[in-house]
Amino acid sequence: NVVVLDFGAQYTQLIARRVRECKVYCEILPCETPLAEIQKRKPIGIIFSGGPSSCYEPGAPEVDMAIYELGIPILGICYGMQLMSRQLGGKVRAGTQREYGKTALDVTDGSDLFKGLNRELICWMSHGDTVEAPPPGFKITAVTASTPVAAMADTARKFFAVQFHPEVVHTPWGTEIIRNFLYEFCAAKGEWTMASFVREATEAIRQQVGDKKVVCGLSGGVDSVVAAALVHRAIGDQLTCIFVNTGMMRKDEGTQVRENFARAFNINLVYADEKSRFLDKLKGVIEPEQKRKIIGNEFVAVFDEVAQTIEGAEFLAQGTLYPDVIESGSGKAHTIKTHHNVGGLPEYMKLKLVEPLRYLFKDEVRKVGEELGVPTEMVWRQPFPGPGLGIRVLGEVTREKIDILREADAIVVEEIKKAGLYRRVWQSFAVLPDTKSVGVMGDKRTYEYPIVLRAVSSEDAMTADWARLPYELLEKISSRIVGEVEGVNRVVYDITSKPPGTIEWE
Ligand code: XMP
Repeated sequence: NVVVLDFGAQYTQLIARRVRECKVYCEILPCETPLAEIQKRKPIGIIFSGGPSSCYEPGAPEVDMAIYELGIPILGICYGMQLMSRQLGGKVRAGTQREYGKTALDVTDGSDLFKGLNRELICWMSHGDTVEAPPPGFKITAVTASTPVAAMADTARKFFAVQFHPEVVHTPWGTEIIRNFLYEFCAAKGEWTMASFVREATEAIRQQVGDKKVVCGLSGGVDSVVAAALVHRAIGDQLTCIFVNTGMMRKDEGTQVRENFARAFNINLVYADEKSRFLDKLKGVIEPEQKRKIIGNEFVAVFDEVAQTIEGAEFLAQGTLYPDVIESGSGKAHTIKTHHNVGGLPEYMKLKLVEPLRYLFKDEVRKVGEELGVPTEMVWRQPFPGPGLGIRVLGEVTREKIDILREADAIVVEEIKKAGLYRRVWQSFAVLPDTKSVGVMGDKRTYEYPIVLRAVSSEDAMTADWARLPYELLEKISSRIVGEVEGVNRVVYDITSKPPGTIEWE
């Protein structure tokens, strides 16, 4: 285990990902975590992240000085370096000029962190303050044109620090630098693999659950499916999955969950077909947030009803991921849309949570899914909003409109897959606006719905760009939708990035 102490940087999650890419498990802890808590995790190394503060300002976050006495190797990054420097007796000054972006780095001592790397590297800088003189015992190991101490090391005590950000992709050899820290100085063994994760996680689930029963809501999305597969691997028949058909699902979703997954894995599944119930509740509702709320509440109500029929269920398995855990922990919230956790259940249900994926990132979840033999098309599903097609039918949701959209959406997915682009684009789907336009088909005037085609590339859904799909593909999708989906006479392509647009239309 490696502990990353978070001083509030935007890149902290990336540090954790890089460490795990080196096959070393690691956890992010807030910088104010008491030393005893840190020690409990028996870390083989500690990494101080960057952060927005200035280390000499009153109230700037610090670490307990005793951390330097533990004999555990430490790597400080950006703020982490400045803090280490200040606490150990070096000199930090406020930057007169900020250094930002790709910067040429001169390695002056290639024996430690930079072992095996070139003397001239590119690194990513983003800082105001600078270490002017390293603390006693430290040597300078790299410089840049405007930063006299771009990296420093006290090899005897195994303290290392870099002013730049090895965790971002713009530092091309960053992972190697982190790997050197882990393997040369922390004695990392590189045993964190998906197979080892599955072994440990199943053991932990058995410990937590004992002989009690567990319920799990399946949405068709990768997270809940992998969580279910993992819990099933651990406790078999003690698990019952619940699939609520809200009527807002994509075309093949129900079948995939029932046949390709539950039947293939021999998992107990309760299939609650509640299409009409959701549609009734949505009658006359236009406002997107209200639609979200209704669908979310109704989902919880149905789930609750079903769960009550499962005798002795004491636990609820959920596919919560690490980014959710970190985000809710730090209390950051963005309410452009009340996203996510539509499957999140209220406290009155009194089920204890089993969250076997709570320390994983999305790409790791996919690897676990593959390790467990979850069907490929489920492991690689594009993200899909909890309220489903309910927020892709703009305005009032009716059965007719949902049916039109579902057919059009299936064609989009099929063609994007055929073109080999399904994994390359972040999301690709159809939207049904609440308007009609005139067209002509077979010499006859038509007055029907248009379909909006939306396809975006993105890393994390926070920002996105419209995908430059080939014209031939656009043409194919357009002619197929207009030709095959009754009620549609026009297809348009959304060429808005996020921001200013959002990925979904509602
Ligand atoms: P936007 O539209 O805000 O979407 O750019 C960002 C990501 O979130 C998904 N999304 C949702 N997911 N419940 C969800 O679980 C929702 O209500 C919801 N709305 C948007 C969207 O598909 C994209 O991946």
